[in-house]
Amino acid sequence: MRTGRPSHTAQHNALFRALEQRFPQPLFEDPWARRFLRGRYRLIAMLPAATVARVIDKRWPGPRAAVSVRTRYLDDAIIRALSDGLDQVVILGAGFDSRAYRLPGIERARVFEVDHPSTQAMKRAVVGLQAAHVTFVAMDFATDALGDALRASGFRSDLRTLFVWEGVTNYLDEASVDSTLRFVAHSGTALLFTYIDRAILDGSARFEGAAESIDYVRKLGEPFTYGLEPRQLETHLRERGLELVEDLPLSAVADRYYQADRPVVSGFYHVVAARCRG
Ligand SMILES: C[S@@+](CC[C@H](N)C(=O)[O-])C[C@H]1O[C@@H](n2cnc3c(N)ncnc32)[C@H](O)[C@@H]1O
Repeated sequence: MRTGRPSHTAQHNALFRALEQRFPQPLFEDPWARRFLRGRYRLIAMLPAATVARVIDKRWPGPRAAVSVRTRYLDDAIIRALSDGLDQVVILGAGFDSRAYRLPGIERARVFEVDHPSTQAMKRAVVGLQAAHVTFVAMDFATDALGDALRASGFRSDLRTLFVWEGVTNYLDEASVDSTLRFVAHSGTALLFTYIDRAILDGSARFEGAAESIDYVRKLGEPFTYGLEPRQLETHLRERGLELVEDLPLSAVADRYYQADRPVVSGFYHVVAARCRG
């Protein structure tokens, strides 16, 4: 994140979700996505969606459809968790995630949207004050303590809480990811998060589209800085107080949603479900 500038990668994700809405059979419904777009992203979203998607997928194979696939996977997982009973949902690095405003039944839980102040200010200008169940928490994972920021906003660690951390760990450093995992393990019920395979950072494995993605986010000023090792994930989480339930590359999750005309979906990007053991 560049100081004072809202996240560009968050705008990309909103653009990808806005494009998905204009496909004949979208993987999910997100009527908010296009409202968050600014500048060139807003203009691109007005062009024919299938053509834009084709151009993006050719130049940067993987990330566009990966965002759609993970959005659907996480929507389904959050809806299941809500139906089991939740008191709080904490969305870490929320960006332009609109789940607090669109998932059925989420308004019965208190939702905390945690994000960098620059990105959050841009989102609040769109969502305004309309949702009484949402509390905004502005903080920097690199310098602020998540627990302090949440508690100051009314978060309670004795309630049933789902933490969602989508598309963020790859932009942080090891210390920030570690302290967040440990806090979540002791303060929540379950965690859904994404990570990138560390092998693309050290070049020890190759995935379709990885080089283009790495180059693109670096030029945007939001480089990939952190990844995890899939084979060590279970142990890694256990040592931090979390029990692994599921760890899937998004290319495998995509098999559930696409039949013919399957786009490239980033195989180095993983989605994880974990239980908090404390
Ligand atoms: C790629 S976006 C993902 C947004 C959203 N979760 C999604 O999946 O669309 C990354 C998000 O992480 C936030 N972020 C990045 N670095 C951060 C930091 N050091 N502290 C707080 N938030 C940060 C950005 O503001 C942005 O909202």
